[in-house]
Amino acid sequence: MLTTILTLELATAGLNVVLHGRNTTKLEKVQAELKKAHPVRSFRLLVADASLVRGAANLPMNADSGGDHDKDPLLGLDVKAMAKKELDGLHITVLVNNVGGGIKNPLMGDFLEYSHRQNAEAVSKESLFAMHLTHALLPQLRKNRPGGALIISVGSMADVGMPLTAMYSACKAFNKTLFETLALEDKLARVNDGRGNEDERSNVEIMHVRLGDVTDVSWRRGAGTLIMPTPERRRARFLPASGAARVL
Ligand SMILES: NC(=O)c1ccc[n+]([C@@H]2O[C@H](COP(=O)([O-])OP(=O)(O)OC[C@H]3O[C@@H](n4cnc5c(N)ncnc54)[C@H](OP(=O)(O)O)[C@@H]3O)[C@@H](O)[C@H]2O)c1
Repeated sequence: MLTTILTLELATAGLNVVLHGRNTTKLEKVQAELKKAHPVRSFRLLVADASLVRGAANLPMNADSGGDHDKDPLLGLDVKAMAKKELDGLHITVLVNNVGGGIKNPLMGDFLEYSHRQNAEAVSKESLFAMHLTHALLPQLRKNRPGGALIISVGSMADVGMPLTAMYSACKAFNKTLFETLALEDKLARVNDGRGNEDERSNVEIMHVRLGDVTDVSWRRGAGTLIMPTPERRRARFLPASGAARVL
């Protein structure tokens, strides 16, 4: 749901959007709704299961230089190769890392209630996918002049450590540290530039947004309340809080 809301906002701001998800039928339905609301915008689909990101043991040493390391799906999803195949040639100015939502079965539980596989998939979906995709797209985002570029990482208040959601909390804390540090590195590039030389790292605004609970998402329905609003209401504090006006 947040995905749709954010996409609508990006389209309203005049951007074409690549929508990522794992379910083609679901994505096509959302794509049709978005197209209806914004007939002049383009909405491309990228289907990939973020919970199956390839581990280090299956990435060759020269994975960054391309090659055919992406060919065997049994080894998992090579995000960098996926980005090259699906996104090469597009003029990308905004990246929203929104995929997540925690382990659903059960939603909350003791650490040992979750299987080895569930834990690995959680790290992949919540953190590794965004980490690799950001690494793949950052060079291009840094080059986007004039206008700059924007990365939004969708986080959670659970990053402080919410009992019975150990994996989710830990992954959100990883993302918070990663994206806040990247934002600091970009700020540092601006500070270092004391002689009027441009450093392309300062070109990207990076923000990590820590969300509280929202309702009316795929796994929780119901009317919004003051402490658990709908994503529409939450969004009022989303893009406008960023430097999006500068970017868009
Ligand atoms: N809802 C809240 O109260 C809340 C609170 C704090 C933070 N957040 C964060 O907000 C973000 C959006 O969550 P949401 O609540 O809006 O949940 P959502 O409605 O379930 O949306 C999550 C999105 O990620 C996609 N997704 C899930 N697993 C995937 C996978 N393995 N591969 C590819 N795509 C996958 C979903 O697609 P499918 O439809 O195919 O599942 C959906 O588009 C998440 O990062 C979440 O942690 C949510």
